[in-house]
Order: sequence, then structure tokens, then C-alpha cells
Amino acid sequence: MPTPPELLVDWYLWIKAFHVMAVISWMAGLFYLPRLFVYHAQAGNSGELHETFRIMEFKLYRYIMVNAMWAAWIAGLLLIWIIGLSHPWLHVKLLAVVLMTAFHYLLRHHVRLFAEGRNRRDQKYFRMINEIPTVLMIVIVVMVIVKPF
Ligand code: HEM
Repeated sequence: MPTPPELLVDWYLWIKAFHVMAVISWMAGLFYLPRLFVYHAQAGNSGELHETFRIMEFKLYRYIMVNAMWAAWIAGLLLIWIIGLSHPWLHVKLLAVVLMTAFHYLLRHHVRLFAEGRNRRDQKYFRMINEIPTVLMIVIVVMVIVKPF
């Protein structure tokens, strides 16, 4: 990996602050969108409530989660450029972050199915998958703050 420019190293803490802010916004969406799906699944695939949920889900996903995810990734990769990759805790963190990103795209899939009135999943399924970002967040935060290995 090429040596990071000095200016980037000087801005390390600002980049980390930006990274954490982006992560907070992304996580807010990853926790809240499945909650909307729980109530949308109860409301059904048509009618006024369906229309309201459809717009809320689209705006949360498109305007907040997509932008926050890319900001978290770009700032995170810049931080890796500064601190390097040879940290076992970072490998575990990155595995959990890749799984979190896969979960993000699973939610995109459900946003589309609901938008097309084609959801077939019940509220129990969405309550269950809502636990996934919680478990991944615990792994990620312990790895990056405690750095156990
Ligand atoms: C999206 C891809 C991500 C990448 C590439 C990434 C990478 C990094 C790197 C390299 C650092 C600096 C660590 C250090 O200087 O010791 C960092 C800091 C941090 N990351 Fe991430 N991260 C990502 C996503 C996340 C997510 C999803 C969370 C939370 C759920 C998270 C939480 C944090 C926190 C809290 C810090 C600050 C730790 C400290 O104060 O030392 N990151 N991240």
C-alpha cells in the first residue's frame, strides 16, 4: 500500500470523527428500516397506509442510508490507508462490516418488493432480521474500541 500523504495523516482525527458520524447515520437506518417493514407487513400491499410506508422506506433508504454507507466506507478506507491493514482486530471488523453491507442490500431488496406491492414476508420475519445489525454492531464496536487482538 503506498504511503499516505502527510496531509491525510494530519487529518486522521477529523476523518475518524466524520467516519463515526457517517456510521451513526447508517446504523440509524439499518435499525429503523426493518421496523417500518414490520408495520408495513401488517398494513398489507395496498391502500393509503401502504403508500405512506412506501414513501418513508424509499426516502430513508435512498437519501440517508445509501449516502451514509458510502461516506462510512470512504472515510473507513482512508483510515485503513493511514493505520495499515495488518491488525487482526481490523480483519474481524471488516468481515462484520461486509456482512453489514450485505444486510443493507437485503433491505434494498425488500424496499423494492414493498414498493411493487409484492411483499410476501410476515412481520415476524422482519422482527427477526432486525437483530442482525445489533449483533454485527456489537462485534464491530468491540473490535475497533477494545482491539482484543
Ligand atoms: C464501512 C466500512 C468501515 C471501514 C473500512 C472501517 C474502518 C475503520 C478504521 C480503519 C478505523 C480507525 C481505527 C483506529 O484508528 O484505531 C475506524 C474507526 C472506527 N470505526 Fe469503522 N469502519 C467501517 C465501518 C464501521 C461501522 C459499521 C462501525 C459501527 C457500527 C464502525 C465504528 C467505528 C468506530 C466507533 C471507530 C472509532 C474507534 C476509535 O475511536 O478508535 N466502523 N473504522
